[in-house]
Amino acid sequence: MKTPSLVVCFFGAAVLAGAQEPIPRTWDTAAVRELEVPLADARYSPVHIPEETYYRIPVRTIYRSYPVYHPKREPAGYRDWLAAREPEVVFDAARLASKADWIAAGEIVFNSGTSFGPVLFGAGEVRNAEFYEQTGMPVAKDGTIPFARWVVRKRGVVELASMGCNTCHTRVMPDGTVVPGAQGNNPGDRQGAWMLERAAKFAGPEKILERMRAFARQFEMPWLAEDPNRVYRTMGLAEMIEAGRRVPAGVNVRSNTSLLYPPQIPDLIGVGERHYLDHTGLVHQKSIGDLMRYSSLVQDVLSTSAYGGPAPVVDPSKRVRFSDEQLFALATYLYSLRPPVNPNAFDARTEQGRKVFARLRCAACHPAPLYTSNKLMPVDGFTPPEEHRKRLAIHDRRVGTDPRYALHSRKGTGYYKVPSLKGLWYRGPLEHGGRVATLEEWFDAGRISRAPGHRFGLDLKNEDKTALIAFLKTL
Ligand code: HEC
Ligand code: HEC
Repeated sequence: MKTPSLVVCFFGAAVLAGAQEPIPRTWDTAAVRELEVPLADARYSPVHIPEETYYRIPVRTIYRSYPVYHPKREPAGYRDWLAAREPEVVFDAARLASKADWIAAGEIVFNSGTSFGPVLFGAGEVRNAEFYEQTGMPVAKDGTIPFARWVVRKRGVVELASMGCNTCHTRVMPDGTVVPGAQGNNPGDRQGAWMLERAAKFAGPEKILERMRAFARQFEMPWLAEDPNRVYRTMGLAEMIEAGRRVPAGVNVRSNTSLLYPPQIPDLIGVGERHYLDHTGLVHQKSIGDLMRYSSLVQDVLSTSAYGGPAPVVDPSKRVRFSDEQLFALATYLYSLRPPVNPNAFDARTEQGRKVFARLRCAACHPAPLYTSNKLMPVDGFTPPEEHRKRLAIHDRRVGTDPRYALHSRKGTGYYKVPSLKGLWYRGPLEHGGRVATLEEWFDAGRISRAPGHRFGLDLKNEDKTALIAFLKTL
């Protein structure tokens, strides 16, 4: 019997070469149906475009891109050199064989912008030193800013590509090293405020106010009797600019999140271990295919989704999407991300902290080794329906943090997930809305007025508190 052994040989060789499992079909009807946890009012859960429409949307071509430098660090002649580049397609699934190939290709997808032209910032801004001073945008050790790239899609035209994953999910550490996937520290909404202010000067405040109000409509929830998101209909421009300035780096408004309650940007290092994605646990991650679906949803699909149905009708020729191969490479890359080397060593104090962590039963919700139960916690004002208990992992307790994002945003499921405590030493600000800058503040009772709830560890003696924090910084 020749055939079976050939088959075995073929698969054996494929495994040796590091080849992957078959590529999941991203917009598979059954998988999309199982993807999301219903919204707090389930009748208004989003209905997405049908599979058949999805696959008629043309695929994004990904071109070679180049680093963006702080204006004072740009190599001499860089602009002319860029202008002489030819467009070059850099994602070609046919050339990917080993797992390492797929990871490298995924990094390209991660860093590829989806907007070409000013969004949070424009080509003029990144070449203006004042912009960095005003917004506090960090610059990497080598003089680059890893949140955007120059790209040549057409001969002789150099564009600023942004709104790729790198725009929000890249962190520049205090020593200038870059950690891809970590909670980003690109001050996105501060740049938005800067852009608004400048645009108002050029185009006139009335016009910009009108545009901002139109933009804010996408966050409204018409099915709520009292929709707090409607406040943007009457808010003035100065107030909007002020609101943008108040959002710290590490927190960012994002499509279908909320202008009023912008969420903390999560750390993507370790994302493969999480059962629920988004602070509200909106996406139930059961396989790599679900992370592909998540990525497509936030970048391309959600803007067309209909809350409460019927299924949206869109013209596929007017849109663009990632291919299944691009999304598979991206998700494989995300799963491969590892944290930077932790400089905090174990000692007597961290050992004492570990005991405090055990004594206070933090592990009831944050058990090792992931330091999350991977469960959802209902917020005040929401009662989980019985049927959720059958298919979702839910805690019976509540922690009393601010329920508004979980109830009054288009990602609001009525839950917050229990976040992992890994990587706390390199990331922040904390809490689903990023309202707490540091661990020291998290365990300080004074934060309750800004970020209520989660009272665990607040009344510890100083020595135990310091030890607990030291322990948490080793994770
Ligand atoms: C404009 C900023 C921005 C961009 C661009 C962006 N994200 Fe995010 N991302 C966020 C924010 C903010 C959240 C938190 C949303 C929430 O919790 O409701 C988030 C959440 C996530 C999560 C959930 C993780 C978790 O543990 O809960 C994943 C996964 C993710 N993003 C992947 C991506 C990928 C992949 C890309 C590129 C295709 C991308 N994001 C582009 C801002 C961004
Ligand atoms: C009953 C469950 C529960 C217990 C017990 C618990 N936590 Fe949490 N923890 C949560 C939830 C839920 C959140 C997210 C809250 C939010 O963002 O609104 C959270 C958030 C955190 C955060 C912020 C993480 C981030 O990335 O923003 C830290 C730090 C934390 N917990 C540490 C602890 C420590 C230390 C203990 C013990 C003293 C503890 N927790 C006990 C459920 C719990």
